[in-house]
Amino acid sequence: MDIKKETIERMKNAKRGFALTGAGISAPSGIPTFRGKDGLWKDKDPRKLASQSGFRSDPDNVWQWYNERREMIKEKEPNRAHYSLTEIQKMIDNFAVITQNVDNLHQEAGTDNVIELHGNIFKNKCNNCGKSHGELKSDNPVECDKCGGLIRPDVVWFGEPLPEDELNKAWEYAKNSDIVFVIGTSAMVQPAASLPIISIEHGGYVVEINAERTVISEYVNDGYYGDVAEVLPELVESVS
Ligand code: OAD
Ligand code: ZN
Repeated sequence: MDIKKETIERMKNAKRGFALTGAGISAPSGIPTFRGKDGLWKDKDPRKLASQSGFRSDPDNVWQWYNERREMIKEKEPNRAHYSLTEIQKMIDNFAVITQNVDNLHQEAGTDNVIELHGNIFKNKCNNCGKSHGELKSDNPVECDKCGGLIRPDVVWFGEPLPEDELNKAWEYAKNSDIVFVIGTSAMVQPAASLPIISIEHGGYVVEINAERTVISEYVNDGYYGDVAEVLPELVESVS
């Protein structure tokens, strides 16, 4: 795949940038995405498994579903796309990876400055008082030692606000970046999907990398449509 000259120049001259990543970057590692024909939400009801009302009506079911996903994700490793982002981060003075993923694979690939917008599946917090509880091995949700509330995975569910500090940092990057990569996300979930649009409004150069065109493709400056695990290494190679 030919990388456009302007994209290479923009990368070389960038002082500050970010990548917004979604489930597609972990797909080559063997972790299913959410939408699309083999997506998680195809035969599972997100309102029962990833919402406050789902947890309140059947906490065991929700906890066990997350346990299964934790077991599955634990076996997976970062792929060439994750490692390429670690390389890109080294090329740009100030570069964040803002992820909607909860799988910890960016960190495992050695990327720093990872901003987790939707939490981390290996962490837990009290559903009542919010106290952090780290990793827990239990077949059923246990009670918080501080308040007696039930402990749940520290991920963002439908209808819940995003963690405030992370979101604030993300807005800052969106408004002040020379280069932005939108990688493996359908760009359908807000507010994450607004970040690249804000960047465009602020003069950032936005490059989309996805298996297929998305709802934001018509707005971005440049787009590469193929497997992330192939496109990102090519991008790194063409800049180095
Ligand atoms: P989606 O499942 O909505 O989209 C995955 C995207 O990755 C699609 O646009 C695919 O075309 C693309 N893709 C898949 N495999 C790829 C590959 N090998 N190379 C390149 N692109 C590939 O996932 P997200 O956009 O991450 O939220 O979904 C956003 C949020 O919706 C998730 O964080 C989750 C979900 O509900 C919460 O759980 C809060
Ligand atoms: Zn508590």
